[in-house]
Amino acid sequence: MSKRFYVTTAIDYVNGQPHVGQAYEKVITDVIARVHRALGEPTFFLTGTDEHGQKVQQTAMAAGKPPQEYCDELAAIWRSLAGTLGLSNDDFIRTTDPGHEAIIQAILTKLNENGHFYRAPYHGYYSMKEETFLTEKDRREDGTFDPLWGQVVELVEENYYFKMGRHQQWLIDHIEANPDFIAPGFRRNEVLGFLRNNTLEDLCITRPKARLSWGIPLPFDPDYITYVWFDALVNYASLPGLRGDPVVLDALGPWLPEGSGIERNPDLQLWPADIHVIGKDIIKFHAVYWPIMLKAMELPLPRQILAHGWWQKDNERMSKTTGNVVDPVAVIQEWGVDAFRYYVTRELDIGPDGNWTDAGFAGRYQAELANGLGNLINRSLSMLRRYREGVVPPRHDELKPDVTAAVATVRNLLRQHSLQASLIAIWRLIDRVNQYVDQTAPFKLAKDPAQAERLGEVLYNLVETCRVLAVLIWPFLPDTAGRIFSQLALEGSPDRLDLASWGGLAEGHVVGTPAPLFPRRDGK
Ligand code: MSP
Repeated sequence: MSKRFYVTTAIDYVNGQPHVGQAYEKVITDVIARVHRALGEPTFFLTGTDEHGQKVQQTAMAAGKPPQEYCDELAAIWRSLAGTLGLSNDDFIRTTDPGHEAIIQAILTKLNENGHFYRAPYHGYYSMKEETFLTEKDRREDGTFDPLWGQVVELVEENYYFKMGRHQQWLIDHIEANPDFIAPGFRRNEVLGFLRNNTLEDLCITRPKARLSWGIPLPFDPDYITYVWFDALVNYASLPGLRGDPVVLDALGPWLPEGSGIERNPDLQLWPADIHVIGKDIIKFHAVYWPIMLKAMELPLPRQILAHGWWQKDNERMSKTTGNVVDPVAVIQEWGVDAFRYYVTRELDIGPDGNWTDAGFAGRYQAELANGLGNLINRSLSMLRRYREGVVPPRHDELKPDVTAAVATVRNLLRQHSLQASLIAIWRLIDRVNQYVDQTAPFKLAKDPAQAERLGEVLYNLVETCRVLAVLIWPFLPDTAGRIFSQLALEGSPDRLDLASWGGLAEGHVVGTPAPLFPRRDGK
């Protein structure tokens, strides 16, 4: 078995309700996973929850619950969000899984034995909210710290540090030699600029248990727990390891605890990850610390860190205090999952920041989904049923050149993960075919018995295009694509791009009954 295409999302903190930004990231990653499946590549898609650390401990305390109990409840909500979003994830990792904890401890032991850590005192400032040490450099001109850091306290404590100095140059060389390692390009330039102009400070990888107890115990010092980011980043490799990925297990070697029950599975080749999809705020962790951790662990680096932008609502930052956070579950309940998936991928390219507006959402729903795609499918099938009792006429190739060209364009864009551009190209085809209906006017042809053959030609072109469209939209709108296939009374799922070649509908095949794909939402 060959290596699978392995794609991951950031794992979400479980300290509140799911946020539209988190949902957006999961959807674009799902589309990428489905694109690779549609291209016929064995694919593995991982998402999950980040459950340790100060934020979670504090929220659990505020809720009056032991952290594990609190996490179990919240993780169930996130798992069900994956279902609500229509994700095709192959697994769901929780950082409180005992298997993950065992792997973290094995890695920490290995790195400690190999001389990557040292213990040292620290005297300085600490942001409780961001769980980060601050220095004098982080002070503003008036001597205060940015309110974004939340409460900042003065700390004196000993911790374990990961030596960074020896890693800076090879990381710069790696990023320079691999132009696709960080995408989009402007993010790559930011990381390179940072690495070239700053000396990396050693990374503090522990927190004293006396101050923070909710974390994975440090295997070589019982007074400490592991820093939440060290624990969280490793999820990408621990899950493959737990499922027996030989590359990961070889790197863990003798450090894996006896009796861990992990069995090698040579058929499951996941590592290295092909893409880590993350938000722009956590690039440094993924493009600097994670590669360095992997190098120290003697594991190959991921092929790409793909950083998306952030959503605002009506041009303002979404925040719980303002109360303007878009709730993805409420939107899906009102509009349907595919409407949500469509809006977020069509509105925002992967990279820049985006702006959610309810009017924009409703506008795209009405114009592009209901009147564009929905109407085309509905009228094509209705006419075939009305004029030909649903029986597919002989093949005719009038739209073949347009459809074939669009399929080639979309295939190329999908390979580059240009999701927004793919949707634009697909909708260009939809508009073209809706025009074709207006131009050929099958409703007029139907009134003239002399035009019976021409009517058959037009109807074939229409229903065949509907079939191809189902295949093209499947990665984005899997539910709708499946419904188009069942309305066409086709067996199986439109989940392979190869099915998009022209001429798939056979003469004599009888289609099913159309039903509106995007019903009118009154009052919107
Ligand atoms: N737990 C860490 C990630 C660890 S990955 C090893 C974390 N969690 S988070 O819940 O705060 O964020 C999860 C993801 O959601 C991040 O990639 C983050 O960028 C993304 N988003 C959170 N708010 C967002 C927006 N407003 N817009 C788009 N994405 C945003 O960070």
